[in-house]
Amino acid sequence: MDSTYKSIIETAYKQTNLLENKGKVATYIPELANVDDSMFGVHITTLDGTGFGMGNNLQKFSIQSIAKVLSLTLAYKILGEKIWTRIDVEPSGTKFDSLLLLETYHGIPRNPFINYGAIVICDILLSLLDDAREEFREFVRDLSDIPDLNYSDKIADSEKAHGYRNTALCNFIKSFGNIENEPAAVLDFYFDMCSLEMNCQQLSKTFTFLANGGHKLLDNKKIISKSKSKRINALMLTCGFYDESGEFAFKVGLPGKSGVGGGIVALYPGNYAIAVWSPRLNPNGNSFKGMKLLENVTTHSELSIF
Ligand code: DON
Repeated sequence: MDSTYKSIIETAYKQTNLLENKGKVATYIPELANVDDSMFGVHITTLDGTGFGMGNNLQKFSIQSIAKVLSLTLAYKILGEKIWTRIDVEPSGTKFDSLLLLETYHGIPRNPFINYGAIVICDILLSLLDDAREEFREFVRDLSDIPDLNYSDKIADSEKAHGYRNTALCNFIKSFGNIENEPAAVLDFYFDMCSLEMNCQQLSKTFTFLANGGHKLLDNKKIISKSKSKRINALMLTCGFYDESGEFAFKVGLPGKSGVGGGIVALYPGNYAIAVWSPRLNPNGNSFKGMKLLENVTTHSELSIF
């Protein structure tokens, strides 16, 4: 590990830790509110395979919407460019759970990362695979090298019991004919997918494939083509933070993806992937401290994709 990255992370972590945390833990998934909101971890993995972490970087958390990048990767890998007939690649400029644009665009989601886009991706995987729940978990297990990687039934059940907005979204898309399977089955898989748990070290390692031209770092196995990897990174940059995507590109300058569990992953193609976790969220549903830390990292390193 290049010692400059190490000292940049140390400085960024310490400086961010001094800030007053104005964020609030998500409560609409009741189980998420039970997390210790003082948790704060960061881990960077560079493409030489080494890593460096601080704080609660080894504590697992619910990766939530970050998993949407992995479900998109699997669906895109299998279906190829045909996927874009079901889903668009435009920023939404709306919150992650907004229903607003679905009627305007006749049930075609603006992008794969807003909730209803990820719900359509789950529908696609259900149609393509015999056992989507199991095969998606296997795909992520293999990609992440986490042998005990699993869904959290506790989190998924908690979200299922309160998922009225996602249920509305799924049913509404079905009315336009852009959901092939039964909405209940699509939603079950979607909630399970969001409940995957990882720690910052595992998350940063897992996402190195997108910094490495679509190839897994450990054995150089091709996960997706270079072109697909570029496109997924472009979507993370333009849509990864919902109506705060412009601000993330402006302040951090890297492709990234947030989750309502307080995790954020970002990557610098050809260099590193970094994951940060702090459960208290800003009003846009993105980790308050996570956003600040990453801004601090690219400001100090003076390295971004721009
Ligand atoms: O569907 C939901 O609302 C959650 N399972 C995921 C939302 C999420 O992570 C938004 N990201 N910041």
